[in-house]
Amino acid sequence: MSLTLSLDHLSPFITQKEIDAMAGEALDKVVMVHQKKGPGNDFLGWVDLASSIKSSFLEEVEEAAASLRQQCDAIVVIGIGGSYLGAKAVISALAHNFTQKPAVGVHPEIFFAGNNISEDYIAELMDVLEEKEYGLVVISKSGTTTEPAMAFRILKKHLEEKIGREEAGKRIIAITDAHKGALRTLAGREGYRSFVIPDDIGGRYSVLTPVGLVPIALAGYDIRTLVQGAADMEDLTCPARTFHENPAAQYAAARHLLYKAGKKIEILANYQPKLHFFAEWWKQLFGESEGKDGKGLYPASVDFTTDLHSLGQYIQEGERILFETVLSIEKPERKVIIPEDADDLDKLNYLSGKRYDEVNKMAELGTLLAHVDGGVPNIKITIEKLDEYHLGQMIYFFEKACAISGYLLGVNPFNQPGVEAYKRNMFALLGKPGFEKETEAIRKKIKG
Ligand code: PA5
Repeated sequence: MSLTLSLDHLSPFITQKEIDAMAGEALDKVVMVHQKKGPGNDFLGWVDLASSIKSSFLEEVEEAAASLRQQCDAIVVIGIGGSYLGAKAVISALAHNFTQKPAVGVHPEIFFAGNNISEDYIAELMDVLEEKEYGLVVISKSGTTTEPAMAFRILKKHLEEKIGREEAGKRIIAITDAHKGALRTLAGREGYRSFVIPDDIGGRYSVLTPVGLVPIALAGYDIRTLVQGAADMEDLTCPARTFHENPAAQYAAARHLLYKAGKKIEILANYQPKLHFFAEWWKQLFGESEGKDGKGLYPASVDFTTDLHSLGQYIQEGERILFETVLSIEKPERKVIIPEDADDLDKLNYLSGKRYDEVNKMAELGTLLAHVDGGVPNIKITIEKLDEYHLGQMIYFFEKACAISGYLLGVNPFNQPGVEAYKRNMFALLGKPGFEKETEAIRKKIKG
């Protein structure tokens, strides 16, 4: 079953008539995305990637994953931003909440590194790796990003000291640019198995390239079904579809109207803890794509019902600058029935015999109605279940909607010039060669 979009809870904030009036403009942007003629058009390789991935390429990924799995009981995936969040989102969404393992088969534990610069994090990771037969997947398109480069330098040394340089080389996969960057040079020199990140796909749109597919396959998930889900969504959102057939165009139009009506923050809400990192991926996608030129909705996220006991107060009664997009999963994987209790001290017997999920669904509906009554428009996106197919659909749906939204907003959704500012300051503060002028300037600034 396909992902469905409900815009039924946007009235009275915006009306269906207003959304329909956006159809022409939104569909123009769909064409612009497919014709690859708009701003950032050299980064549109993801648009038809899902439908054009060859089976032989997926076989290559599966084979590399199987071969590394045979040698390792743990894998560290090193990367940051777009070179980490997609794989983390999919693996977290599919894995057991507590063991972090898939339901079937024996698969390595997956750890992530290079997505922060915490000394305790890397030291404690090495504590854990001491006891493991592990391998490394290092992912960086530029091959020069500080966080993953630092983590890789340390973990490579750790692994080489543990099992020797030659053996370590057999347990390292590098995913990077085809030609340039330090990682490409190193992979060539050390003979690491490597995969290419296509030139025309930016980090946050790269889940269906080796950036996402290699870690997801290593973790034991079905990358073919993931790609199929995305390909089906590609078809559903292509220029041949009408506005009412195309959920990405409708979502983009609705959130654009909400922005124009004064909403500044979009909150992605979920009722399944496994979707926490999907929201992190979504935040990067929309935040980096739209937040520029002094414009853009701020993408935030909540895990419900947990956050109903914290941020719920603000959402219900704080500044009316918010709208919510709720991710709803129709069917849970497991079944748990609330038992009868003879004493009923907790007064929960009215729920006995019901499924846990029934309560979750009523919390979801009750919250949606309360928030709409409180002045927070709600969009609802429903998928049947949390599996590879539907995750593939959601990934492509949001990628396409984000591109359309960015064009509606009048920005280039495929660059991220703002992420360089902190790097320049950090390099200046650290005295990186080549940053001498900046170092002098920032030192003066600090001294006041
Ligand atoms: O979306 C992006 O482009 C960024 O988040 C990058 O993916 C991130 O900075 C990592 O870059 P790289 O893959 O070059 O190490």
